[in-house]
Amino acid sequence: MKQSNTLNLDNFWIPFTANKAFKEEPRLLVEAEGMFYKSEDDRQILDGIAGLWCCNAGHCHPHIVKAVQDQIATMDYATAFNMSHPKAFQLAEKISELTPKGLDRIFFGNSGSEAVDTALKVAVAYHVSRGEGQRTRFISREKGYHGVNVGGTSVGGIPTNRKSFGALLSGTDHLPHTWNPKEMAFSKGQPTWGLHLAEELESILTLQDASTIAGVIIEPVVGSGGVIVPPEGYLERIREICDKHGILLIFDEVITGFGRIGHAFAAERFNVTPDIITMAKGLTGAAIPMSATAFKTEIYDEIVNGPDSVIELFHGYTYSGHPVAAAAGLATLEVYENEGLFDNSLKMEPIFQDSLHSLKDEKYIIDIRNIGLMGAIHFGSEDDKTAVEVASKVFKYCYENNVLVRFSGEFIVLSPALIVEEEQIKLITETIRQGIQSLN
Ligand SMILES: Cc1ncc(COP(=O)(O)O)c(C=O)c1O
Repeated sequence: MKQSNTLNLDNFWIPFTANKAFKEEPRLLVEAEGMFYKSEDDRQILDGIAGLWCCNAGHCHPHIVKAVQDQIATMDYATAFNMSHPKAFQLAEKISELTPKGLDRIFFGNSGSEAVDTALKVAVAYHVSRGEGQRTRFISREKGYHGVNVGGTSVGGIPTNRKSFGALLSGTDHLPHTWNPKEMAFSKGQPTWGLHLAEELESILTLQDASTIAGVIIEPVVGSGGVIVPPEGYLERIREICDKHGILLIFDEVITGFGRIGHAFAAERFNVTPDIITMAKGLTGAAIPMSATAFKTEIYDEIVNGPDSVIELFHGYTYSGHPVAAAAGLATLEVYENEGLFDNSLKMEPIFQDSLHSLKDEKYIIDIRNIGLMGAIHFGSEDDKTAVEVASKVFKYCYENNVLVRFSGEFIVLSPALIVEEEQIKLITETIRQGIQSLN
């Protein structure tokens, strides 16, 4: 019998989910291994989204499981302020070997949202320390997602995520997003159209006064907003404009970090070095929650410069650098290296791309976007169905047919683990095709 038939479903308030509908028709997962989940009704479900863009090494990797088991049995927790433990330092060092040169000071948090708020606070603290305390404001981008804390919600660019929460941080502004189906539908990888949109940053800086801006925060590839790949030259131009005005550039790499687009970070793939990188998800393969924010050495040096015994930054979390998370992080980075998973992501990219784009002529599809192992299939309305309804029905069809995809508004998102195989990619795509055809 399904557990959900006897479970009390009332108390758990499920995040980012239509609670009433879910509780009417619950979908519960009970086990996981490699590319698969097991559902409560005993089906093997092929995971097309690596959990939530996060289980990059696949589920329950034995090396990560063992590291977590060993650490929890050895030391559950070490006081995070004025005390620490070796694995936090070891993990920070390992991360700094993967980040672009110069971004080698690592601050730990527990979620992508915390990594973002850490980045925003430290950016302001840096300017305060340099005597530019008027730089308190941030520019981000429409359709951007930067988590759900107050800072991240304020710079977020998805209207539904902001509208219930009042004024939020004052003084934020948003660049236009770069998705234009007329100009770039069905682009593979980076679109060639859209570089000029980076110039909008100059316009906003003129309007808002560049000397009041602390930082520009963007996802190098928009993830939750629908896998929007940056136009060629766009990130380079944003970097140039930030440099010209003394503004810090923050890449939110919570999704794009750790092999999702075939490199340790999108900064490396696009050859654009920001001043700050936020990361989470793939850092521990989601085995234990953990995030990190990498800062350029100059930022750390500017702030950590007072008398020896004085706390330099009044910021941090009880669980910053948590020993079990650090053990999971170290083991996960070992798996990536030992199994060549970033390379596998690159190797699978053309297969993933071709497979996704083979759906182009299916009904309702108005765009397909992809880079690395992230992709979106975007539906438009036709006849009496709305795009959201189509996406929702395709998601349900796939789940009932043993494939997990992500339903997000008008699109279906895919982000398989970096261990994915060709046959599995094809199975995911073909199940989506059948899901669409079942609607006709
Ligand atoms: C780019 C980006 N930033 C921040 C976050 C927030 O991460 P979390 O949900 O761990 O707080 C996410 C989550 O999906 C994300 O995609």
